Amino acid sequence: MSIRLKVVDRNGDEHEIEAAPETSLMETLRELDYGVAAICGGMCSCATCHVYIAPEWVDKLPARQSDEGDLLAELQFRQDNSRLSCQIQLKAEYDGLRLTLAPEE
Ligand code: FES
Repeated sequence: MSIRLKVVDRNGDEHEIEAAPETSLMETLRELDYGVAAICGGMCSCATCHVYIAPEWVDKLPARQSDEGDLLAELQFRQDNSRLSCQIQLKAEYDGLRLTLAPEE
């Protein structure tokens, strides 16, 4: 079973895509033409997988670990709903998750 995601790209266009459970959100986003660079490959060290989670979903995801929070704190475009998509493991209950790709820094 796949998970549907609603992804708003950097032009403001919304796309509905599918992702596999038990993979990181970043793994799906980096496959998109308009997706994330994910330069470090998910090691939580580059922040090029930065996304904004839709407000109604923020509290449904596990809280940030300290290394994710530390890296986000260094970003110019950080917002309260910022997450590093490599640190989010997709689960079936995230079906319908909506997010926006953050600007590149
Ligand atoms: S892919 Fe580098 S921090 Fe997420």
